[in-house]
Amino acid sequence: MNTLLNKFEDYLLNNLPKIESFHPHFENALQDMLKAGGKRFRPMLLLSVVQSKKPLLLDNSMKVALAVEFLHTYSLIHDDLPAMDNASLRRGFPTLHTKYDEVTAILVGDALNSESFNLIANSPLHNDVKIELIKLLSSNGGIDGMIIGQAIDCHFEKQKINLEKLEFLHTNKTAKLIATSLKMGALIANYKENIQEELYKFGLDLGLLFQIQDDIIDELESSETAGKTTQNDGFKNSFVNLLGLSESIKSADNLAEKCLESLNNFDTNLKNSLEEFLISYINRHKKYNS
Ligand code: IPE
Ligand code: IPE
Ligand code: MG
Ligand code: MG
Ligand code: MG
Repeated sequence: MNTLLNKFEDYLLNNLPKIESFHPHFENALQDMLKAGGKRFRPMLLLSVVQSKKPLLLDNSMKVALAVEFLHTYSLIHDDLPAMDNASLRRGFPTLHTKYDEVTAILVGDALNSESFNLIANSPLHNDVKIELIKLLSSNGGIDGMIIGQAIDCHFEKQKINLEKLEFLHTNKTAKLIATSLKMGALIANYKENIQEELYKFGLDLGLLFQIQDDIIDELESSETAGKTTQNDGFKNSFVNLLGLSESIKSADNLAEKCLESLNNFDTNLKNSLEEFLISYINRHKKYNS
Protein backbone atom coordinates (compact mmCIF):
# COMPACT_ATOMS: atom_id res chain seq x y z
CA MET A 1 0.00 0.00 0.00
CA ASN A 2 1.09 3.52 -0.77
CA THR A 3 2.86 4.91 2.32
CA LEU A 4 1.24 8.33 2.09
CA LEU A 5 -2.18 6.70 1.97
CA ASN A 6 -1.25 4.57 5.00
CA LYS A 7 -0.12 7.64 6.85
CA PHE A 8 -3.36 9.47 6.10
CA GLU A 9 -5.51 6.47 7.00
CA ASP A 10 -3.73 6.14 10.37
CA TYR A 11 -4.14 9.84 11.00
CA LEU A 12 -7.85 9.67 10.20
CA LEU A 13 -8.46 6.68 12.46
CA ASN A 14 -6.63 8.43 15.31
CA ASN A 15 -8.49 11.68 14.80
CA LEU A 16 -12.11 10.65 14.42
CA PRO A 17 -14.55 13.32 15.59
CA LYS A 18 -15.70 12.82 19.17
CA ILE A 19 -18.67 14.14 21.09
CA GLU A 20 -19.41 13.67 24.76
CA SER A 21 -23.14 13.49 25.33
CA PHE A 22 -25.87 11.14 26.51
CA HIS A 23 -27.12 10.64 22.94
CA PRO A 24 -27.21 6.85 22.49
CA HIS A 25 -25.63 6.66 19.01
CA PHE A 26 -24.66 10.06 17.64
CA GLU A 27 -20.92 9.68 18.19
CA ASN A 28 -20.90 6.25 16.54
CA ALA A 29 -22.90 7.59 13.62
CA LEU A 30 -20.47 10.49 13.28
CA GLN A 31 -17.59 8.07 12.93
CA ASP A 32 -19.18 5.22 10.95
CA MET A 33 -18.76 6.52 7.40
CA LEU A 34 -15.22 7.73 8.09
CA LYS A 35 -14.20 4.34 9.48
CA ALA A 36 -15.92 2.54 6.60
CA GLY A 37 -13.04 3.34 4.25
CA GLY A 38 -13.27 4.96 0.85
CA LYS A 39 -10.59 5.77 -1.64
CA ARG A 40 -9.41 8.96 0.14
CA PHE A 41 -8.91 10.40 -3.35
CA ARG A 42 -9.18 14.09 -2.42
CA PRO A 43 -6.89 14.12 0.65
CA MET A 44 -4.36 12.09 -1.34
CA LEU A 45 -4.37 14.72 -4.09
CA LEU A 46 -3.70 17.43 -1.52
CA LEU A 47 -0.96 15.49 0.27
CA SER A 48 0.72 14.37 -2.97
CA VAL A 49 1.10 18.02 -4.01
CA VAL A 50 2.54 18.97 -0.60
CA GLN A 51 4.89 15.97 -0.76
CA SER A 52 6.26 17.09 -4.11
CA LYS A 53 7.63 20.40 -2.81
CA LYS A 54 7.51 20.54 1.00
CA PRO A 55 7.62 16.99 2.37
CA LEU A 56 8.49 18.42 5.78
CA LEU A 57 5.07 20.08 5.85
CA LEU A 58 3.19 16.79 5.41
CA ASP A 59 2.48 16.37 9.13
CA ASN A 60 1.22 19.93 9.42
CA SER A 61 -1.07 19.35 6.43
CA MET A 62 -2.88 16.33 7.87
CA LYS A 63 -5.67 18.31 9.50
CA VAL A 64 -6.38 20.06 6.20
CA ALA A 65 -6.39 16.75 4.30
CA LEU A 66 -8.78 15.39 6.92
CA ALA A 67 -10.98 18.47 6.48
CA VAL A 68 -11.34 17.73 2.78
CA GLU A 69 -12.28 14.11 3.54
CA PHE A 70 -14.81 15.24 6.20
CA LEU A 71 -16.47 17.61 3.75
CA HIS A 72 -16.55 14.97 1.03
CA THR A 73 -17.95 12.36 3.45
CA TYR A 74 -20.67 14.78 4.51
CA SER A 75 -21.58 15.26 0.83
CA LEU A 76 -21.93 11.48 0.42
CA ILE A 77 -24.10 11.09 3.54
CA HIS A 78 -26.47 13.78 2.31
CA ASP A 79 -26.30 12.50 -1.30
CA ASP A 80 -27.66 9.12 -0.12
CA LEU A 81 -30.65 10.59 1.76
CA PRO A 82 -34.15 9.64 0.56
CA ALA A 83 -34.73 13.21 -0.64
CA MET A 84 -31.61 13.05 -2.81
CA ASP A 85 -30.44 9.71 -4.30
CA ASN A 86 -32.17 7.42 -1.81
CA ALA A 87 -29.31 4.92 -1.54
CA SER A 88 -29.00 2.18 1.06
CA LEU A 89 -25.33 1.16 0.71
CA ARG A 90 -22.19 3.29 1.01
CA ARG A 91 -18.56 2.27 1.41
CA GLY A 92 -19.74 -1.30 1.85
CA PHE A 93 -22.03 -0.50 4.77
CA PRO A 94 -25.69 0.49 5.23
CA THR A 95 -26.14 4.24 4.82
CA LEU A 96 -26.64 6.20 8.04
CA HIS A 97 -30.31 6.95 7.42
CA THR A 98 -30.99 3.22 7.01
CA LYS A 99 -28.86 2.11 9.97
CA TYR A 100 -30.11 4.90 12.28
CA ASP A 101 -32.61 7.43 10.95
CA GLU A 102 -32.80 10.45 8.65
CA VAL A 103 -32.34 12.97 11.44
CA THR A 104 -29.06 11.33 12.42
CA ALA A 105 -27.81 11.26 8.82
CA ILE A 106 -28.69 14.91 8.22
CA LEU A 107 -27.04 16.06 11.44
CA VAL A 108 -23.92 13.92 10.98
CA GLY A 109 -23.54 15.54 7.55
CA ASP A 110 -23.97 18.98 9.08
CA ALA A 111 -21.44 18.16 11.79
CA LEU A 112 -18.78 16.94 9.35
CA ASN A 113 -19.30 20.02 7.22
CA SER A 114 -18.73 22.51 10.03
CA GLU A 115 -16.00 20.40 11.62
CA SER A 116 -13.99 20.50 8.41
CA PHE A 117 -13.57 24.27 8.74
CA ASN A 118 -12.77 23.92 12.43
CA LEU A 119 -9.97 21.51 11.48
CA ILE A 120 -8.43 23.96 9.03
CA ALA A 121 -8.72 26.85 11.50
CA ASN A 122 -6.87 24.73 14.08
CA SER A 123 -4.15 23.35 11.82
CA PRO A 124 -0.51 24.27 12.47
CA LEU A 125 -0.10 26.55 9.43
CA HIS A 126 0.19 30.31 8.95
CA ASN A 127 -3.05 32.21 9.48
CA ASP A 128 -2.98 33.80 6.02
CA VAL A 129 -2.59 30.36 4.42
CA LYS A 130 -5.47 29.02 6.52
CA ILE A 131 -7.76 31.85 5.44
CA GLU A 132 -7.04 31.09 1.78
CA LEU A 133 -7.67 27.37 2.39
CA ILE A 134 -11.00 28.12 4.07
CA LYS A 135 -12.01 30.40 1.20
CA LEU A 136 -11.20 27.71 -1.35
CA LEU A 137 -12.92 24.84 0.41
CA SER A 138 -16.00 26.83 1.39
CA SER A 139 -16.63 28.11 -2.13
CA ASN A 140 -15.69 25.00 -4.14
CA GLY A 141 -17.31 22.62 -1.66
CA GLY A 142 -20.19 25.05 -1.21
CA ILE A 143 -22.38 27.37 -3.20
CA ASP A 144 -19.88 27.95 -6.01
CA GLY A 145 -19.30 24.21 -6.45
CA MET A 146 -20.59 21.00 -4.91
CA ILE A 147 -23.85 22.47 -3.56
CA ILE A 148 -25.06 24.07 -6.78
CA GLY A 149 -24.00 20.92 -8.64
CA GLN A 150 -26.05 18.73 -6.31
CA ALA A 151 -29.00 21.14 -6.49
CA ILE A 152 -29.02 20.97 -10.30
CA ASP A 153 -28.44 17.19 -10.26
CA CYS A 154 -31.53 16.65 -8.11
CA HIS A 155 -33.76 19.36 -9.59
CA PHE A 156 -33.31 18.16 -13.17
CA GLU A 157 -33.99 14.48 -12.51
CA LYS A 158 -36.38 13.21 -15.19
CA GLN A 159 -35.62 16.29 -17.30
CA LYS A 160 -32.84 16.01 -19.87
CA ILE A 161 -30.35 18.87 -20.09
CA ASN A 162 -27.97 19.68 -22.95
CA LEU A 163 -24.30 18.76 -23.06
CA GLU A 164 -23.07 22.19 -21.97
CA LYS A 165 -25.32 22.11 -18.92
CA LEU A 166 -24.31 18.51 -18.23
CA GLU A 167 -20.70 19.62 -18.04
CA PHE A 168 -21.63 22.55 -15.78
CA LEU A 169 -23.50 20.18 -13.47
CA HIS A 170 -20.69 17.66 -13.12
CA THR A 171 -17.93 20.25 -12.95
CA ASN A 172 -19.67 21.84 -9.99
CA LYS A 173 -20.91 18.67 -8.33
CA THR A 174 -17.62 16.78 -8.41
CA ALA A 175 -14.75 18.38 -10.30
CA LYS A 176 -14.38 21.59 -8.28
CA LEU A 177 -13.78 19.80 -4.98
CA ILE A 178 -11.18 17.62 -6.68
CA ALA A 179 -9.53 20.65 -8.31
CA THR A 180 -9.57 22.55 -5.06
CA SER A 181 -7.90 19.67 -3.19
CA LEU A 182 -4.93 20.00 -5.56
CA LYS A 183 -4.88 23.77 -5.23
CA MET A 184 -5.04 23.61 -1.43
CA GLY A 185 -1.96 21.36 -1.51
CA ALA A 186 -0.25 23.88 -3.77
CA LEU A 187 -1.09 26.73 -1.42
CA ILE A 188 0.35 24.90 1.59
CA ALA A 189 3.48 23.98 -0.37
CA ASN A 190 3.83 27.59 -1.52
CA TYR A 191 3.76 26.82 -5.24
CA LYS A 192 3.67 29.94 -7.43
CA GLU A 193 0.24 31.20 -8.43
CA ASN A 194 0.53 30.02 -12.05
CA ILE A 195 1.25 26.46 -10.88
CA GLN A 196 -1.69 26.66 -8.46
CA GLU A 197 -3.91 27.61 -11.39
CA GLU A 198 -2.50 24.88 -13.62
CA LEU A 199 -3.18 22.33 -10.91
CA TYR A 200 -6.73 23.63 -10.50
CA LYS A 201 -7.38 23.38 -14.26
CA PHE A 202 -5.89 19.89 -14.33
CA GLY A 203 -8.17 19.04 -11.40
CA LEU A 204 -11.26 20.16 -13.31
CA ASP A 205 -10.42 17.71 -16.12
CA LEU A 206 -9.52 14.99 -13.64
CA GLY A 207 -12.73 15.60 -11.69
CA LEU A 208 -14.90 15.43 -14.77
CA LEU A 209 -13.15 12.21 -15.75
CA PHE A 210 -13.73 10.88 -12.22
CA GLN A 211 -17.48 11.57 -12.49
CA ILE A 212 -17.81 10.03 -15.96
CA GLN A 213 -16.10 6.92 -14.59
CA ASP A 214 -18.45 7.00 -11.60
CA ASP A 215 -21.45 7.14 -13.95
CA ILE A 216 -20.05 4.17 -15.89
CA ILE A 217 -19.61 2.29 -12.60
CA ASP A 218 -23.25 3.03 -11.71
CA GLU A 219 -24.28 1.47 -14.99
CA LEU A 220 -21.99 -1.57 -15.06
CA GLU A 221 -21.05 -2.61 -11.53
CA SER A 222 -23.06 -4.44 -8.92
CA SER A 223 -23.67 -2.75 -5.56
CA GLU A 224 -21.48 -5.41 -3.91
CA THR A 225 -18.44 -4.67 -6.09
CA ALA A 226 -18.93 -0.92 -5.97
CA GLY A 227 -19.68 -0.95 -2.23
CA LYS A 228 -22.51 1.48 -2.87
CA THR A 229 -25.97 1.40 -4.39
CA THR A 230 -25.62 1.20 -8.18
CA GLN A 231 -28.03 1.19 -11.13
CA ASN A 232 -29.37 4.21 -9.28
CA ASP A 233 -28.92 6.89 -11.98
CA GLY A 234 -31.96 5.91 -14.07
CA PHE A 235 -33.58 9.36 -13.90
CA LYS A 236 -30.36 11.34 -13.67
CA ASN A 237 -28.50 13.49 -16.13
CA SER A 238 -25.59 11.08 -15.95
CA PHE A 239 -23.07 10.87 -18.78
CA VAL A 240 -24.23 7.35 -19.56
CA ASN A 241 -27.87 8.41 -19.81
CA LEU A 242 -27.14 11.40 -22.01
CA LEU A 243 -24.31 10.12 -24.19
CA GLY A 244 -24.75 6.35 -24.02
CA LEU A 245 -22.18 3.92 -22.64
CA SER A 246 -19.72 3.81 -25.52
CA GLU A 247 -19.67 7.60 -26.01
CA SER A 248 -19.14 7.99 -22.25
CA ILE A 249 -16.17 5.64 -22.41
CA LYS A 250 -14.83 7.63 -25.37
CA SER A 251 -15.20 10.90 -23.47
CA ALA A 252 -13.40 9.31 -20.53
CA ASP A 253 -10.61 8.18 -22.89
CA ASN A 254 -10.22 11.72 -24.25
CA LEU A 255 -10.13 13.28 -20.81
CA ALA A 256 -7.69 10.62 -19.58
CA GLU A 257 -5.40 11.49 -22.50
CA LYS A 258 -5.65 15.19 -21.64
CA CYS A 259 -4.89 14.49 -17.96
CA LEU A 260 -1.81 12.45 -18.84
CA GLU A 261 -0.56 15.25 -21.08
CA SER A 262 -1.02 17.83 -18.31
CA LEU A 263 0.73 15.56 -15.83
CA ASN A 264 3.71 15.33 -18.17
CA ASN A 265 3.96 19.11 -18.31
CA PHE A 266 4.35 19.50 -14.55
CA ASP A 267 7.87 19.60 -13.13
CA THR A 268 9.38 16.21 -12.36
CA ASN A 269 8.75 16.18 -8.62
CA LEU A 270 5.12 17.19 -9.01
CA LYS A 271 4.56 14.78 -11.88
CA ASN A 272 6.14 11.84 -10.02
CA SER A 273 4.33 12.49 -6.78
CA LEU A 274 0.93 12.76 -8.46
CA GLU A 275 1.49 10.04 -11.03
CA GLU A 276 2.34 7.36 -8.48
CA PHE A 277 -1.10 7.62 -6.97
CA LEU A 278 -3.13 8.87 -9.93
CA ILE A 279 -2.31 6.58 -12.81
CA SER A 280 -4.69 3.81 -11.76
CA TYR A 281 -7.49 6.40 -11.37
CA ILE A 282 -6.87 7.98 -14.74
CA ASN A 283 -7.09 4.52 -16.29
CA ARG A 284 -9.87 3.09 -14.16
CA HIS A 285 -12.52 3.06 -16.91
CA LYS A 286 -10.24 1.27 -19.38
CA LYS A 287 -11.28 -2.19 -18.27
CA TYR A 288 -14.71 -1.42 -19.76
CA ASN A 289 -13.22 -0.77 -23.20
CA SER A 290 -14.13 -3.70 -25.42
C1 IPE B 1 -18.18 9.32 -4.87
O1 IPE B 1 -16.90 9.72 -4.50
C2 IPE B 1 -18.97 10.53 -5.26
C3 IPE B 1 -18.48 11.19 -6.47
C4 IPE B 1 -18.18 12.44 -6.49
C5 IPE B 1 -18.36 10.46 -7.71
P1 IPE B 1 -15.75 8.65 -4.28
O2 IPE B 1 -15.81 7.66 -5.40
O3 IPE B 1 -14.46 9.35 -4.07
O4 IPE B 1 -16.22 7.92 -2.94
P2 IPE B 1 -15.35 7.30 -1.76
O5 IPE B 1 -14.80 8.46 -0.99
O6 IPE B 1 -14.26 6.45 -2.35
O7 IPE B 1 -16.33 6.51 -0.95
C1 IPE C 1 -22.45 12.57 -5.95
O1 IPE C 1 -22.51 12.02 -7.21
C2 IPE C 1 -21.47 13.64 -5.90
C3 IPE C 1 -21.45 14.28 -4.58
C4 IPE C 1 -21.28 15.54 -4.47
C5 IPE C 1 -21.62 13.51 -3.36
P1 IPE C 1 -23.20 10.61 -7.27
O2 IPE C 1 -24.58 10.66 -6.71
O3 IPE C 1 -23.05 10.05 -8.63
O4 IPE C 1 -22.25 9.79 -6.27
P2 IPE C 1 -22.48 8.27 -5.89
O5 IPE C 1 -22.52 7.50 -7.17
O6 IPE C 1 -23.77 8.20 -5.14
O7 IPE C 1 -21.27 7.93 -5.07
MG1 MG D 1 -26.04 12.09 -6.41
MG1 MG E 1 -25.49 9.25 -5.34
MG1 MG F 1 -22.64 8.05 -9.04
